[in-house]
Amino acid sequence: MNAFSFWNPTNIFYGKGQMEAHLTKLVKRNGKRILLVYGGGSIKKSGLYDNVIALLSEDKELEIFELPGVEPNPRLSTVHKGIEICRKENIDFMLAVGGGSVIDATKAISSGVKYDGDVWDFYVTRKRPTEALPFGTILTLAATGSEMNSGGVITNWETKEKMGAGSPLTFPKFSFCDPENTFSVPRDQTVYGIVDMMVHVMEEYFSHTPNTPLQERLCESVLSTVVEVAPKALANLADYEARETLMYCGTMALNGMISMGMSGDWATHGIEHEVSAIYDIPHGGGLAIIFPNWARYVLDAGTKRFYQMAVRVFHVDPAGKSEREVAQEGIDALRAFWDSIGAPKSLGDYGIDGENLDVMAEHAVKHGAIGGYKLLQKEDVATILQMCL
Ligand code: NZQ
Ligand code: ZN
Repeated sequence: MNAFSFWNPTNIFYGKGQMEAHLTKLVKRNGKRILLVYGGGSIKKSGLYDNVIALLSEDKELEIFELPGVEPNPRLSTVHKGIEICRKENIDFMLAVGGGSVIDATKAISSGVKYDGDVWDFYVTRKRPTEALPFGTILTLAATGSEMNSGGVITNWETKEKMGAGSPLTFPKFSFCDPENTFSVPRDQTVYGIVDMMVHVMEEYFSHTPNTPLQERLCESVLSTVVEVAPKALANLADYEARETLMYCGTMALNGMISMGMSGDWATHGIEHEVSAIYDIPHGGGLAIIFPNWARYVLDAGTKRFYQMAVRVFHVDPAGKSEREVAQEGIDALRAFWDSIGAPKSLGDYGIDGENLDVMAEHAVKHGAIGGYKLLQKEDVATILQMCL
């Protein structure tokens, strides 16, 4: 494995009743003027908003301000709005209540408040914040892992760019993960979350780093668990145990724990961000289309890891077959699993044709070739996108 150091300071609270027991005192410990950041209204419908307000109101010294309306694929313009509120109202702590988009917008606000330039600099240059406003999260959707990592993805709608950034300063101080808060996630978003967490694991798993037997098995465990539990969660969206397991898989998939010392691939994410930057499609939906095509395209960069996933995760019987045949069956099994849960299959499912294919391919490699498993140039990305049509 590669030499590595690991640090993840997020204090994570899992399960029922944790928010009720700890939220108010934790917020108070971090600040008094609080910005509540949330999305398009799901937390009002589910009742979570009322619960959070009631808890925060228990402490009369806490003053609450609000930034509602964070979009899925959160916009830079909304981040700017949040930064303005924080400066004007002297906010000293933020609480993100929502999915990855709300949390990512909060991370961007956090790094922008004390920065003289435009926060977008952190997304398009190597600049990193030197100060950040602290924040906590209450997760409502199992998918991104943003509740326990320091990264975030923001869309600049004017330039049609969707970019990621991260800093050791933008880990949440704490995150509450109560599976009941995900009961109201609709079926399609649940599927996107399932795909997203699986692809996070596979971006880490498809690696040429030598001697990573435990990391590989940790990745395979998360994948196998998701494959096992996803149908249960989808059969009954309010199945506590299934939602709990999915939530934990989502957190583990991208908090750094399963792939320490391992260099990953991440080309599928790079390509997906270009598609959603232009077409504003759900992140997990885009991944479901791109990943199997990426896999078929890069297969010969290393059939062994694909073979291993086929046998260990999808239980493909290798008897009498070549390594490549088993590897291919594994990719087919992954696709069949996603078909079985209703994940999208082609860009056509979102009404996307080849019109902007070249632009997307060009944008994907504008800072250089992408992908750790196989290095992809513009022509490679264009071919993969072509396969996705
Ligand atoms: O806006 P509201 O009304 O809250 O509705 C949201 C939104 O419409 C809804 N939703 C969330 N929780 C719900 C709920 N509906 C009912 N009940 C609930 N409990 O679901 C919709 C999608 O929410 P969103 O936050 O956009 O989904 P997700 O968590 O999948 O986040 C996607 C964003 O995260 C980025 C993606 O690119 C995308 O912008 N990513 C962030 C990563 C990170 N920070 O580490 C890594 C990922 O690879 C990803 O790129
Ligand atoms: Zn993702």
